[in-house]
Amino acid sequence: MQHVLVTGAGGYIGSVLVPKLLDRGYRVTAIDRFYFGLDKLVPHSNLTMLQEDCRHLTEEHFSTVDVVIDLVAISNDPSGEMFKEVTYEINHSARVRAATLAKKMGVRQYILPSSCSIYGFQDREVIVDEVANTNPLTVYAKANEKAEQDVLPLADNYFSVTVLRQATVYGPSPRMRFDLAVNGMAFGAWEKGVIPLMRDGSQWRPMVHVEDTTDVMCLLLETDPELINGEIFNVGSNRNNYQLGELAQEIATALPIEVKVDWYGEPDHRSYRVDFGKIEERLGWKAKYTAADGALQIYKALENGTLEKTEQTITLNWYKQLVKWERIVKQVDKYGGILEIEKAGSFASMQ
Ligand SMILES: NC(=O)c1ccc[n+]([C@@H]2O[C@H](COP(=O)([O-])OP(=O)(O)OC[C@H]3O[C@@H](n4cnc5c(N)ncnc54)[C@H](O)[C@@H]3O)[C@@H](O)[C@H]2O)c1
Repeated sequence: MQHVLVTGAGGYIGSVLVPKLLDRGYRVTAIDRFYFGLDKLVPHSNLTMLQEDCRHLTEEHFSTVDVVIDLVAISNDPSGEMFKEVTYEINHSARVRAATLAKKMGVRQYILPSSCSIYGFQDREVIVDEVANTNPLTVYAKANEKAEQDVLPLADNYFSVTVLRQATVYGPSPRMRFDLAVNGMAFGAWEKGVIPLMRDGSQWRPMVHVEDTTDVMCLLLETDPELINGEIFNVGSNRNNYQLGELAQEIATALPIEVKVDWYGEPDHRSYRVDFGKIEERLGWKAKYTAADGALQIYKALENGTLEKTEQTITLNWYKQLVKWERIVKQVDKYGGILEIEKAGSFASMQ
């Protein structure tokens, strides 16, 4: 049985990927600090959950591993700008360290899930492929690019390295994120009949469903290394390259209610239109979902109560909460607890 180590496994993409790997017969070690909770992965006989910080991984973590899928990250632009140093530590240094340790310990394959956001801003008429110039504008995008640049040279005949530049992801997940464009639009439409649209709507942004991008990760595990070793693939589809105004219109049309558009923010400086020909031609892979499919799924899940918006679903808000409560708990903690509620046996009576 092949053993796959997934970092950031309790996150938005990881909590969709891990059950898929288990279904396909892989043994999985899921490493995460589980900042978004330990409840996002369902226990399974072939799943080991390890609450560990990726900045502190050691050789032993890789000793029986065949493949690493290194999802760990501070995962969006606003969080990256707020926690700059930590973002470089986790998204760049910890991932290069993981790839280096994996290679040393004889792991055969390493996959770096990166982001199309490293294309940053491109002229409107340009469509960027994997060899085009990048233009990362934010700490998050710069850290991803640095990780790419430092892990790709580790590739050799015994250690296959592949970079996946994912489009902006959408669709339901156990660790839901409503801070992603399609998901946020679907939520706004469901809650108030309003689609939030970042100015000025003409910016290009490619999208990919979370089921599609996790399918690609699974596909790479079964693909001849000759086709993917040392390679970068944009992950998405040409039909899911949207100008955000057009995306909002498409989502509005797909939903079973009347919606209007509500503009917000300063004009967005990120705009990139991406070519997804390489993944289709070389791997014979095609995305299954459109953004409208994903928005409708989310709308229905909100409607039937299987999805809800909590503070955890907005990444930056949740990290800010954790930092705030860390400070408060440290201030009031005494003798290893607060009020020693559990010790006094009064916890049950409070519930
Ligand atoms: N979601 C998207 O639209 C998207 C698009 C392109 C690329 N990506 C990339 O895909 C990856 C996963 O994104 P996501 O949306 O699942 O993000 P996420 O925030 O939901 O998941 C990241 C996970 O990493 C964990 N984590 C953070 N720091 C850690 C540390 N030091 N040690 C251990 N665990 C830690 C968090 O607890 C979280 O579970 C990231 O690398 C992200 O950059 C995501």
